[in-house]
Amino acid sequence: MEPYRNKVIEKIYETTRSEREEILKEAGYNLFRIPARKVYIDLLTDSGTSAMSTNQWAGIMVGDESYAGSENFLHFEKTAREIFGFKTILPTHQGRAAEHLLFSTLVNPGDYVPNNSHFDTTRANIEHRGGTALDLVIDEGLDPTSRNPFKGNMDPQKLENFIKREGKEIIPIIMLTITNNSIGGQPVSLENVRTIRSISKKYGIPLFFDACRFAENAYFIKKREKGQGERSIREIVRDMFSYVDGCIFSAKKDALVNIGGLLGINEDSLAEKLKNLLILYEGFPTYGGLAGRDLEAIARGLEEVLDENYLAFRIGQVRELGERLIEGGVQVLQPIGGHAVYIDAKAFFPHIPQSQLPGQAVSVGLYLEGGIRTVEIGSVMFAKKDPETGEMTYPKLELVRLAIPRRVYSQIHINHVVDTVLKLYKKREEIRGYKIVSEAPVLRHFTAKFEPILTKRAPKAAQKQLQQV
Ligand code: F0G
Repeated sequence: MEPYRNKVIEKIYETTRSEREEILKEAGYNLFRIPARKVYIDLLTDSGTSAMSTNQWAGIMVGDESYAGSENFLHFEKTAREIFGFKTILPTHQGRAAEHLLFSTLVNPGDYVPNNSHFDTTRANIEHRGGTALDLVIDEGLDPTSRNPFKGNMDPQKLENFIKREGKEIIPIIMLTITNNSIGGQPVSLENVRTIRSISKKYGIPLFFDACRFAENAYFIKKREKGQGERSIREIVRDMFSYVDGCIFSAKKDALVNIGGLLGINEDSLAEKLKNLLILYEGFPTYGGLAGRDLEAIARGLEEVLDENYLAFRIGQVRELGERLIEGGVQVLQPIGGHAVYIDAKAFFPHIPQSQLPGQAVSVGLYLEGGIRTVEIGSVMFAKKDPETGEMTYPKLELVRLAIPRRVYSQIHINHVVDTVLKLYKKREEIRGYKIVSEAPVLRHFTAKFEPILTKRAPKAAQKQLQQV
């Protein structure tokens, strides 16, 4: 049961199937191009989409909008210091702003930044500095059949081998993303944090968290890691953060707000450099691109997210969605992650080859069937054309992410999601793939236009495959 009740509500708009057909045509079959009002259940992202509490809204009303030293900054700083334990806390307007400041300060052309798995924006910010973002997640993290409870872990052997081979001089920082969003919201164990810490210490390289979903990660540690079951979430969080030198954080996830972020740092000279850049790009260090009211909402959200009843419901809601899809025969990434369920689109539509974008077909199909917006994380996002041969290379996994906003949807909404996915799955033989008719040179998934591929019958080989399903 939800450990809260509604006091303020937001109307959502239903559309008919024929309206959605028209909307899709107009949007070039790209869900990013659909107005939010035309979406019934929006599972595009869990970022910045949380419902705030009465307590947070009350905080909004006591916003102190002084340029320097606002009351809300002091509350924000005190709360973040207490929870994370860092000496310096700098506010930023969102996560990628913190990434920009950190990597501008630390990364030089030719450098490498190891991470369990980089999120797109951390990768882009490192590459923007001429560095290389290195993913060193354990092999099981990329194996859809593995049930490892801490699939998000970094492989310590891979890390140490890399440092030995290339030398610590070109590694300004090691990162750990908690939870590991890019491979399915999978957690990192406390033991792994400790091991990576010992390597970072051995070679004198600072270790930072990309801490967006830190409380969800702590909940998984409590439930899955030996000897952690009796500790409070707050204790586990403090423990996790005691092994790192700093963090970047997007408050749009586990601070339960719609905008905001922060940098936490222990070392004074680094903090000083970041502060100077912060003034240049974000604002004075006591507001960092945010209003006083936003800082207050973050401070209150950081406390609320540590509530174990909230986390139990949150993680349970996501898990239940995943389990009900599995019961219906749909293949999803397992174990189910903290913030989203990922449908394996290749298994969903085995008759659609990757060149015809099965993930896009799932995503568009879910909108058409039930007004649900999801995001394709497959060939549309990652397939690459060789500039010389013109040949396409396709990603190993073809996924569709159903990200669940925090405290927003009820179990009945989730029922609608389950029904819609299963309805689409039942008629999978009728569904065809898509082709791209226009695309931008970079990050094409945001703006590309598509058209359905209209063939009457699935190719013979694919029909055979379907019969086996
Ligand atoms: N790091 C991780 C692990 C993230 O998931 C995100 C955002 C960021 C950094 C950047 O934070 O958006 O505040 O600038 N993830 C969102 C998502 C966008 O949909 O997964 P931001």
